[in-house]
Amino acid sequence: MKKVLILGAHGHIAALARKQLLADTDVQLSLFLRRAKRIQDADPKRETVIDGDASNVEQLTAAMKGVDIVYANLAGGNIEDQAKAVVAAMDQTKVKRLIWISTLGIYDEVPGAFGKWNHAQLDGGYLETYAAAAKVIEASDLDYTIIRPAWLSNKDIVSYELTHRNDTFKGTEVSRKSIADLVTKIILDPSKYVRDSLGVNQPNTDGAKPSFY
Ligand SMILES: NC(=O)c1ccc[n+]([C@@H]2O[C@H](COP(=O)([O-])OP(=O)(O)OC[C@H]3O[C@@H](n4cnc5c(N)ncnc54)[C@H](OP(=O)(O)O)[C@@H]3O)[C@@H](O)[C@H]2O)c1
Repeated sequence: MKKVLILGAHGHIAALARKQLLADTDVQLSLFLRRAKRIQDADPKRETVIDGDASNVEQLTAAMKGVDIVYANLAGGNIEDQAKAVVAAMDQTKVKRLIWISTLGIYDEVPGAFGKWNHAQLDGGYLETYAAAAKVIEASDLDYTIIRPAWLSNKDIVSYELTHRNDTFKGTEVSRKSIADLVTKIILDPSKYVRDSLGVNQPNTDGAKPSFY
């Protein structure tokens, strides 16, 4: 049985992916999060809840024993340190497959007026640290897939298209549910998008800003 470790399991996208993975697959889930008692509804047959911090290599290494795929749904000003810790723990435990949620704009790949708006919103700490974290992942020898969502909405739709590492970004927004769907699809077929970095947007959402701004 495939075993997936979700880092940052209380995150918004992670919660949706968890739900879809339980419904659509038979994978076993290890749910790694700070203040783990926030998850009270774990399915004892399929889920294990682990209290831990994703910047702590020891805790990560312990959580990765016997795991096939790591899905990191992390955030925060120390995201680069978390990336370093995740890579170190994966190296130690010889787990190769990583799905890493990042953001649009880390390669300056967002064109036009929306690209400028995106810089104005995200420069000054966020974009720089997320870019640095992605560099750590790309410099590793892991079988990673970096996911760069457009601006996230909580719309109840699954509708997305992909761009790849050296493509110009498309669109302005995408639903968290769509990102959860993409993560589920990659977990079902981990040979997909290895060592790629995927831009993810809802089709036909080009413009100067996401519709909800
Ligand atoms: N908002 C947007 O439009 C947008 C667009 C593109 C990309 N993104 C990025 O996409 C990612 C996922 O989105 P989301 O909505 O699922 O984010 P989210 O709900 O903020 O989830 C991120 C999770 O990371 C966890 N985390 C942070 N530091 C941690 C640590 N040291 N150890 C363990 N867990 C840690 C947080 O845990 P706690 O609950 O313990 O704090 C949180 O649950 C985020 O990085 C976000 O910045 C956002």
